[in-house]
Amino acid sequence: MGVRACALLLALLLARATLGIPGPMNARLLLRPCGWQTKPSRVVGGDDSKLGRWPWQGSLRYWGSHLCGASLLSRRWVLTAAHCFRKSTLPFSWSVQFGELSSMPSLWNLQAYYNRYNVERIYLSPRFTGFAPHDIAMVKLSTSVVYSKHIRPVCVLSSTFEFENRTDCWVTGWGNIHEHIPLPYPYTLQEVQVAIINNSICNHLFQRPDFRMNIWGDMVCAGYAQGGKDSCFGDSGGPLVCEKQGLWYQVGVVSWGVGCGRPNRPGVYTNVSQHFQWILNHMIRNGMPRPDPCLPLLLLTLLWAPRLLQLGA
Ligand SMILES: *[C@@H]1O[C@H](CO)[C@@H](O)[C@H](O)[C@H]1NC(C)=O
Ligand SMILES: *[C@@H]1O[C@H](CO)[C@@H](O)[C@H](O)[C@H]1NC(C)=O
Ligand SMILES: *[C@@H]1O[C@H](CO)[C@@H](O)[C@H](O)[C@H]1NC(C)=O
Repeated sequence: MGVRACALLLALLLARATLGIPGPMNARLLLRPCGWQTKPSRVVGGDDSKLGRWPWQGSLRYWGSHLCGASLLSRRWVLTAAHCFRKSTLPFSWSVQFGELSSMPSLWNLQAYYNRYNVERIYLSPRFTGFAPHDIAMVKLSTSVVYSKHIRPVCVLSSTFEFENRTDCWVTGWGNIHEHIPLPYPYTLQEVQVAIINNSICNHLFQRPDFRMNIWGDMVCAGYAQGGKDSCFGDSGGPLVCEKQGLWYQVGVVSWGVGCGRPNRPGVYTNVSQHFQWILNHMIRNGMPRPDPCLPLLLLTLLWAPRLLQLGA
């Protein structure tokens, strides 16, 4: 972050302090060029995707094999679900692949290996206890991701309240296409449009006698009461995104469900905005390329709920 940005923060802070300007409520984490889709999406559900449509989509791999979805937040940081690391939390057994439409690229696709990044550290939410809530994790990559037409980060907001009635959000992944049917060859990324279901409705749906489950805390539901469109096994850790003014924001992390696509059993996601501060703290503490004289000021401004954060990472 340059001197100008620093001055801007200072000016903002002073303006707030002297004029008593009420702080806008929604901080955004905009790591340029976040949230840009190269190809616009179609309004269909459960279909093959196109390369570049979800450029932040990653494949979290355990000893080279796809295990979970993930999303790119910046050149060094990836968001996924904490439960994906049940097998191991040793960084060297994991890698993340970006910019590929297939979760199992052919052996002679050298670009796919080039687009695989080793993991330096894994941070599970400190409040995660083996299942939802707090089913969220951050992965720090060993090297910086090279952005391209097909590899870009997604944006994150400190509040996703405005999306709570949206019926046009999307979830993407390489998970099962039905409860017991894995994604077939050539393992093309799937995309499905889902509606956000508020917690009162979702709790109502889940309070059926055959399976009771409380939706609370940082859980957010998406799908349809009638079922049919959903995330499934292998999608875990992947992003639920909604569009606003041409930019895409990650609203949820695929967490759990009862089966997949069953009626009255929408998918359950981790509400990303409830972990906004935790995400930001990690990225600020050990994600910056070099020590930043502006950092204390930035932190101070954060406490004041700033309108906009543009970190040049
Ligand atoms: C996520 O949590 C925040 C804080 O509780 C809430 O305001 C917001 O509506 C939630 N997002 C969704 C999509 O439900
Ligand atoms: C969502 O819908 C409910 C009920 O119609 C309404 O009270 C609420 O204000 C809406 N929320 C947003 C963010 O539009
Ligand atoms: C939840 O959604 C339903 C239907 O979309 C709406 O009637 C209800 O007011 C919403 N509840 C809240 C708390 O927003």
